[in-house]
Amino acid sequence: MISPETIEKIMDTARIEEVIGEFVTLKKRGVNLIGLCPFHNEKTPSFSVSAPKGIFKCFGCGKGGNVVNFLMEHEHYTYPEALRYLAQKYSIEIEEEKPTPEQQKAMDEKESLFNLSAFAQKYFEQQLHESEEGKSVGLTYLKERGFSTGQIKKFGLGYCPGKWDDFTQKALKQGYKKEYLIKSSLSKTKDHLLYDSFRGRIIFPIHNLSGRVLGFGARILTNDKKRPKYINSAESEIYHKSKALYGIYFAKSPMASADNCYLVEGYTDVISLHQAGVENVVASSGTALGPDQIKLIRRYTSNVTLLFDSDPAGIKAAFRGIDMILEEGLNVRIVLFPEGEDPDSYARKYRPAEVREYLDSQAKDFISFKTGMLARESKNDPIKKAGIIKEIARTISLMPEPIARTIYVQKCSEMMKIGENLLMGEINKIRRQKRQRKSSQLIQHEKGPVSVPPQDQMHGEGRPGVEENASQEKELIRLMLHYGGHEIVFEVENENKHTEKVNIRVADFIVQDIESDNLELENSQCQKIFREFSAQVNNDKLPDNKFFTSHEDSGVRKLAVDLLSEPHTLSKNWGHRHKIYIKEEEEDLKPRVLQAIYAFKLKKLEQMIAENRREIKELGDKEEPGAESRLLELIATGRDLLSKRSLFAAALNRVVTR
Ligand code: UTP
Ligand code: MN
Repeated sequence: MISPETIEKIMDTARIEEVIGEFVTLKKRGVNLIGLCPFHNEKTPSFSVSAPKGIFKCFGCGKGGNVVNFLMEHEHYTYPEALRYLAQKYSIEIEEEKPTPEQQKAMDEKESLFNLSAFAQKYFEQQLHESEEGKSVGLTYLKERGFSTGQIKKFGLGYCPGKWDDFTQKALKQGYKKEYLIKSSLSKTKDHLLYDSFRGRIIFPIHNLSGRVLGFGARILTNDKKRPKYINSAESEIYHKSKALYGIYFAKSPMASADNCYLVEGYTDVISLHQAGVENVVASSGTALGPDQIKLIRRYTSNVTLLFDSDPAGIKAAFRGIDMILEEGLNVRIVLFPEGEDPDSYARKYRPAEVREYLDSQAKDFISFKTGMLARESKNDPIKKAGIIKEIARTISLMPEPIARTIYVQKCSEMMKIGENLLMGEINKIRRQKRQRKSSQLIQHEKGPVSVPPQDQMHGEGRPGVEENASQEKELIRLMLHYGGHEIVFEVENENKHTEKVNIRVADFIVQDIESDNLELENSQCQKIFREFSAQVNNDKLPDNKFFTSHEDSGVRKLAVDLLSEPHTLSKNWGHRHKIYIKEEEEDLKPRVLQAIYAFKLKKLEQMIAENRREIKELGDKEEPGAESRLLELIATGRDLLSKRSLFAAALNRVVTR
């Protein structure tokens, strides 16, 4: 528990512009500082920090608050974590209040686990340096591997004695609860007895960004092939493997100043590279690199260099890593080590200067790396060459930035001697297909109805409902014109069963959703505007509203002006409420967008149902061969349509009356 006096001191000392300045590039603008908002995607800065007031505010997405709120929001810290981060930054000693029994009980699970991990780390470290067994077994091993005392201390390495339950007993005696010993997986139970999980192993503590211990990796000292080389802490409230990076705490500032991050596989690689003077290095530690880990790196640099072993497993991991990193919008380079060497063994074999020289001279960009690797297999076989090009197109298609894609297309077209347009065409095709899959997945995750059956292609005048449809279509267009660039957020569950937030621009979402159902807008002006959005969105752009308000088609001009000046087609006397209304709508975009989409699709379904009934009736009057089976088909289609209609009607009802 941090004492109230300490909290006050932290709040008095922390300077918001310095704290935020570590995450956001801020420029002076009048009395305030401004920058690109870290909470939503934007190209012109609307994120403002007031040093005298101690607050930040984004005029784009509305987020705002004080320095602690910023850290909680941006770093996903809890309140105490944010305070500890600040205390550390400003070298304020934290006065901990001795927890009373009630407080101890009230402390959340996370704090208890953090406290226990800190205790365990100290215990293991002390064992390594002070106990007989620790010194003769653990320390000797580390020294023999060539780790310096400096690095051993810096990384807080430790040793867990081979005795059955020495650690567990000491922890219990200190008042740490059995419940947390098990939750943290530091102890295990067998026949109601508690024993130490990491017995007889070297301990590598894993730190979070602010230097607190989240969990441990524990290495065996022998070459016993029957037992696992490493035992790692299990997932817990504080340790999520997919979000942790070994070494991140020590690598943060070196990463920012070198503007590059070396990514290796193991604990020992990180430590050996540090010892060789390369400190901007982190390890994914036994898990496949994931998006959350890359986001962690992105706070400090947008350049990642993968260091891999050149065996098949290493190359496969490198390929996967490349895709993941590019997908998060970072730049990636690759260094392969000679077969059988990893960064740790290499760093032990060569002098620090030689290691650094190797890293500098061997780093390849991903196109050269991939073409080199794949070309080795394909020789000059044209079919294989086409395969390589497709594979590289797929990788480039993952890059979110259109400019970066263009640059790599040029590079690849030179290297592979193929036309830029051809390559770009392939890439755009892949991107379009992917996008279409994505929007329906987002709705599905929230258990909303998704697709409408494909509509028979019948356009033109005589069709029922074309005019009535206009109001639903206009609402979609209105939302795109007003809020096309705003983001809405969906919560989806990832493979690890964690919920993850997915942001998507309103325009992208609407375009994808309508297009993935192969639906068309029918009102010709709406259709023109929609198609322009579709074309631009597919290149990650947005049309400028001026394009529509000065469109060559006077109908489009009029519609755009009407929709842009009217806050809402359904609200009548909006005059005096104008401002309030816009604000509300902006803050409540997602349901409005869903409402518009559901309403549009419901209308479509109703048209299809009417059409289906008409056909059934017509067929019933005829006596043709095959009419009967056609009739049965139509009736089945009709039933599907009706059940879809009730799904959409219910969903619409949910978003409207929510
Ligand atoms: P390595 O087998 O390359 O280990 O696994 P290492 O770090 O190079 O260890 P040394 O050099 O043999 O001592 C790379 C990483 O994969 C994870 C660990 O995080 C390790 O650092 N790993 C490996 C496990 O989690 N469990 C294992 O049994 C093996
Ligand atoms: Mn190794």
